[in-house]
Amino acid sequence: MLFPPTTTTTDHPRLAIELDPAGDLLPRILWAGTTTSTTAGPSGYPSTFRGPGVPLLGEHAHELFTRPHLRGHRVGGSDAAWSTRFLVQDLDAGDSRLVVTAEDDAAGLRLTTELEALPGGLLRGRHTVRSTGAGTYVLTGLDVVLPASDDLVELLDFTGRHEGERTPQRHTVTDGLWLREGREGRPGLGGATMAVLGTRGFGTRSGTVLGVHVAWSGNSCFRVERSPDLGTTLGGGELLQPGEVALGTGEDYVSPWVVFGASDSGLDGLAEAFHTYERSLAAHPTHQPVVLNVWEAVWFDHDLPRLHEIADRAARVGIERFVLDDGWFHGRRDDTAGLGDWWVDPDVWPEGLTPIADHVRSLGMEFGLWFEPEMVNPDSELFRTHPDWILATGARVPQLHRNQLVLDLSREEVWQHVHDRVHAVLSSAPIDYVKWDHNRELLEAGSGARGGSSAVRAQTFAFYRLLDSLRELHPGIDWESCASGGGRIDLGVLERTQRVWTSDMTDALARQHIQRWTGQLVAPEYLGAHVSSPVAHQSGRTLPLDFRAATAFFGAFGVEWDLSTATDDELDALAAWVALHKQLRPLLHTGRMVRPESPDPAVLLHGVVATDGAEALLAHVQLDESASNRGVLVRVPHLVPEATYELRWVGPVDRRATSRSVEMPEAGPTAGAQVTGAVLAARGYWIPRRRPETVALVHVERAEPRQ
Ligand code: GLA
Repeated sequence: MLFPPTTTTTDHPRLAIELDPAGDLLPRILWAGTTTSTTAGPSGYPSTFRGPGVPLLGEHAHELFTRPHLRGHRVGGSDAAWSTRFLVQDLDAGDSRLVVTAEDDAAGLRLTTELEALPGGLLRGRHTVRSTGAGTYVLTGLDVVLPASDDLVELLDFTGRHEGERTPQRHTVTDGLWLREGREGRPGLGGATMAVLGTRGFGTRSGTVLGVHVAWSGNSCFRVERSPDLGTTLGGGELLQPGEVALGTGEDYVSPWVVFGASDSGLDGLAEAFHTYERSLAAHPTHQPVVLNVWEAVWFDHDLPRLHEIADRAARVGIERFVLDDGWFHGRRDDTAGLGDWWVDPDVWPEGLTPIADHVRSLGMEFGLWFEPEMVNPDSELFRTHPDWILATGARVPQLHRNQLVLDLSREEVWQHVHDRVHAVLSSAPIDYVKWDHNRELLEAGSGARGGSSAVRAQTFAFYRLLDSLRELHPGIDWESCASGGGRIDLGVLERTQRVWTSDMTDALARQHIQRWTGQLVAPEYLGAHVSSPVAHQSGRTLPLDFRAATAFFGAFGVEWDLSTATDDELDALAAWVALHKQLRPLLHTGRMVRPESPDPAVLLHGVVATDGAEALLAHVQLDESASNRGVLVRVPHLVPEATYELRWVGPVDRRATSRSVEMPEAGPTAGAQVTGAVLAARGYWIPRRRPETVALVHVERAEPRQ
């Protein structure tokens, strides 16, 4: 049986699975792949390849000697629950939803597995396990796993650090278990983000890939396992800490959604499936204003006249939203104090935030404010009054990081206190936007309310509940997820926010890579990307304005630069970039992200193509000196093959010749010649070797009327 069934129509290649009923036992998933797979039969589904597959829930009792998908045991009752053999009670298959319920009486467990087809062609799955037996069922893990065909022999995931998120890493799939665990209580700066299996040498535009993401903002795991008998599987779930889930009779554990996607056109096809899904979310930003955030301009030094001046200059360059970052609340003069005391500091803001908010609004901009609701500094009124409100395993205070600790939001009184404080501030001034930060990992995260037992799962739910309640109370506010940069970026948080802060690294050269790979999961309109100061604060590198602006251009565009130090010429140049972004924003934030492969490691290529193929914007990014003089061909996919296109430079493009290479024509890369979509896809246009740290943006536009 196929899921989703062939009757479901969509514009996108879909991930489908083939389920094989196994009598009373849980059905096996024989195959997972795209509906456009080369092994597809006449119905559009594969008809020839059937691997051994994997049960819907992998159990030891199915002769599964690999890592079980359900791991747990019972205490205080007869323990047959460590090894289950569920019998199917019901299988309810609709067009976009399949639900299987099963029971194991001896184990005293009931299982419900839900699979859903999502817009964009993704599939998501989750399991619910209910303890029906006596005593306590202690759950240690519950994963959602799909089979992967044998030709998917390479694995990609991500690693990283503060100011260096989402560095791709490659592995060869071999027999055994590959397990990536996230234990920080948030997806993390160095988290896997996704695990993607692909055919040998798969790239952004080529290869068959199958990817997984765990839609959860707490601890998670990603797993790839190959067994000589069962072949390869790919999956993930929540990482549960010891004792975190102990089910009494009648209690449920519901796993996070585990989201799978597939593509026969490389990583870009997979990214497109995720982006399409994100664009279907109720919280998706339909309009992404151009932001100015004052963090790197003033840090903690909040001086009203200076902020007014920056706001005036921001309005002059066309900024649409002004964001006051960290430093506005009680006692927050640096990062050693104040977190938890969410009221405006009268020493710094004697008249509250209304004067700055009103000033910003009078200039035609929205006003945004920074919070870090889950945190507390020991040097704060809150901590002095309630030292026991932190996450800790007992009396021992966890190691400080950035001088702060994490509040135990799983305790109702703590949650309510933070909720009411943040709500009060949001109600006190005209606030349009909140940057919600989370600047440390959860460490020894136990709850005092429950004898110090592990509370990461409860904390993650409490975070969602806090954000959801504030969203409901303040429906006009847009929310940004930040965690020391890109430390909390996942589909759980994207269901609730309109923007993410991609990285604290605002050096544009480094940012090119971070944005490219965060885009593997997240659509460009979410990715906060700011023009920083000429000398990057993180790297000390000096980069030209055009390079910085062209780097931020495709994302949720903004400015982090202290505009009070910018010259008139610089302000004019920045204003031109802002205007250009606004003009092209409808294309940039609705089109298909493409990352054409570049044979030259010193050159990165990326862009966006309109969904109807009518136009595209491509970036040729010369990062460094090239080893050759050959230049690069930029291939543009997804245009209408028979249509004719014109190609023009966008923004200031440095056309000067480099040694032994040529000057670029004024009229555009094809010197004004029109080119068909077919030629642009197959051959592309040529960009000769450029000077390092330059971007050549090209607008490709259909030249003839559309049919
Ligand atoms: C984190 C964020 C920054 C800034 C600071 C403020 O590091 O990523 O953008 O908001 O906190 O303390």
